[in-house]
Amino acid sequence: MNDASKPTLILGGTGKTGRRLAERLTAQGLQVRIGSRSVTPAFDWRDRTTWPRALEGVGAVYISYYPDLAVPGAAEAVGAFAELAVQRGVTRLVLLSGRGETEARRAEEMLKASGADWTILRCAWFSQNFSEGFLVESLLGGEVALPVGNVGEPFVDADDIAEAAFVVLTQPCHVGQLYELTGPRLLSFADAVAEIGKAAGRDIRFIRISHAEFTAAVAAQQLPAEFVWLINELFTEVLDGRNESLADGIQRVLGRAPKDFSAYATETAASGIWSN
Ligand SMILES: NC(=O)c1ccc[n+]([C@@H]2O[C@H](COP(=O)([O-])OP(=O)(O)OC[C@H]3O[C@@H](n4cnc5c(N)ncnc54)[C@H](OP(=O)(O)O)[C@@H]3O)[C@@H](O)[C@H]2O)c1
Repeated sequence: MNDASKPTLILGGTGKTGRRLAERLTAQGLQVRIGSRSVTPAFDWRDRTTWPRALEGVGAVYISYYPDLAVPGAAEAVGAFAELAVQRGVTRLVLLSGRGETEARRAEEMLKASGADWTILRCAWFSQNFSEGFLVESLLGGEVALPVGNVGEPFVDADDIAEAAFVVLTQPCHVGQLYELTGPRLLSFADAVAEIGKAAGRDIRFIRISHAEFTAAVAAQQLPAEFVWLINELFTEVLDGRNESLADGIQRVLGRAPKDFSAYATETAASGIWSN
């Protein structure tokens, strides 16, 4: 359990899960320190000189790496950060991890080896990638073209992840536990896009393209090469069928079923994000 008299450092605290975790802790009157490049003092994964200050006086850390634990070097960065935290007496560390990723698995092992009081939240693809990530623009354009076929993915809602992070940080008994967090249902990307189209009342097409076509299309948008590599890696390595199964992490931590993708789609469509 976290020391409630000290702030919780939330790395990626303005991102998909970190922002929601910060809201939950703050609503309970608990102190929060956001760790990201846009706050003062800034925290930057690429600049280790920023790490010690972010850790000063905190009681626990929620570790959300950026851009993704699949990126080469991510495990070493997470391991080095965890070691530094433990050296500074901050032992309560919760890692946001990814299912089926070799590099994420290495980050988990390095976290465990640091001597921290660890908890791992190993997550499926977030539903919010469709509303707070790189897929928003294509959804708005009425066509999503991805190098993925009929593979089923149990998309998990970022609100459920944040709720689980809140519980493991504020209740005892979660140290040394690994929870696999998934949604309640397998959907292909075509299914997910169809559900979003239905919820938004729009005709949105899904097209399967080759990896080469995808790389060319993304490169034409002048996105960083690192991003193009990452998306290809995720679609090649993670979406090969290895994650086509449901897990019970949400039920174990929250004592209830995870939120279904259709509820996410309906609620998010109401915000107008997928409407032109
Ligand atoms: N998205 C998924 O479906 C998924 C699934 C499973 C696991 N994960 C894992 O979840 C983690 C977060 O992914 P996400 O997609 O949800 O991203 P995200 O949290 O939405 O990422 C944005 C956050 O990262 C911060 N950030 C960006 N660059 C940074 C840097 N160089 N140093 C420090 N902070 C930085 C941003 O704040 P500033 O801009 O202010 O720096 C912001 O708070 C990744 O490690 C990924 O492996 C993601």
